[in-house]
Amino acid sequence: MLKEMGTEFSRINQAKAIFDDIYVEKDPRSYFSALGDLDYMITDVAEPVVRQILAAKAAVTGAKPVVLDVGCSYGINAAVHRFPLTFGGLRHRYARREMKALSSEELVHLDRNFYSAWPDVGLARFIGLDISAPAVRYATDVGLLDQGIVADLENDALSANDARIVRDADVIMSTGCIGYVTEKTFGKILDATETTPWIISFVLRMFPIDSLAAAFAQRGLVTERLTGVTFIQRRFRDAEEFENTLATLAKLGVDSTGLESEGLFHADLILSRPEADARAVPLENIVTVASGRGRPIAPRYVHVESNDGLQVTLEP
Ligand SMILES: C[S@@+](CC[C@H](N)C(=O)[O-])C[C@H]1O[C@@H](n2cnc3c(N)ncnc32)[C@H](O)[C@@H]1O
Repeated sequence: MLKEMGTEFSRINQAKAIFDDIYVEKDPRSYFSALGDLDYMITDVAEPVVRQILAAKAAVTGAKPVVLDVGCSYGINAAVHRFPLTFGGLRHRYARREMKALSSEELVHLDRNFYSAWPDVGLARFIGLDISAPAVRYATDVGLLDQGIVADLENDALSANDARIVRDADVIMSTGCIGYVTEKTFGKILDATETTPWIISFVLRMFPIDSLAAAFAQRGLVTERLTGVTFIQRRFRDAEEFENTLATLAKLGVDSTGLESEGLFHADLILSRPEADARAVPLENIVTVASGRGRPIAPRYVHVESNDGLQVTLEP
């Protein structure tokens, strides 16, 4: 029997800088500023992969999935999936001096209009769970999440009301959150879902996934790691975070050469699914990583739908 990872994850998490204050503001300006300064990018590099997995899930069920974003914060995974937006682009929006001058209430009002002004290109509806009440409130107020749950399932039970919200989830996802949450949180969520969901996890390589995989296996899910590719989360904040992380990885026997040793946190993609689904379509057949896709490039040719059919246009 694997030992519970709660204590172990919080010990490993101590290698990372603490950002608690920016998670609990009434709006995401400090979040984008502090994490943007560290080139936080996991939401952006995860998005094309999430899209491919959601398409594969929809192909199995024939319906638009409901995604539960665990550690959803200000709803950024929903924003970058549902709209043609990126963490990097949003960061610049909030860094403008005109935006900095606004009250949170004014910002929420503008952001609600901002998001509703974009075409929704998402393959799913989003609900979210986070320990931060202000972040969840922002994400629901601006329309990024259909419903939000404020809960700390590491320490508390899932309330009956929240269990009703979770019940409909077809997919559970997380970026930048495992470490804060463990198999305790996921176990309580899985026990409340109606059908067995798929779980998309972007997990920093310093967090062993054995206990998560074991908790998932107990509930009939097999867990696969996409091999041969890692996803950059952000750069290290300072020398201490860098050295602590390298030491943690070394202790686990994980080789950081050419990855974390280059100054960046790397995450693995983990997908957990019912065995029959995993057998039907291997993870490698679902996900194609197009390296360089997110780099700034000059205008390029794309297809757009028009009344006259598919047209070629140059997108700036
Ligand atoms: C680095 S942020 C990641 C947010 C978002 N997923 C993203 O990638 O932009 C970590 C999030 O985990 C949340 N968190 C911390 N402890 C948690 C807990 N016990 N349960 C749920 N969320 C938690 C924080 O409030 C914060 O929003």
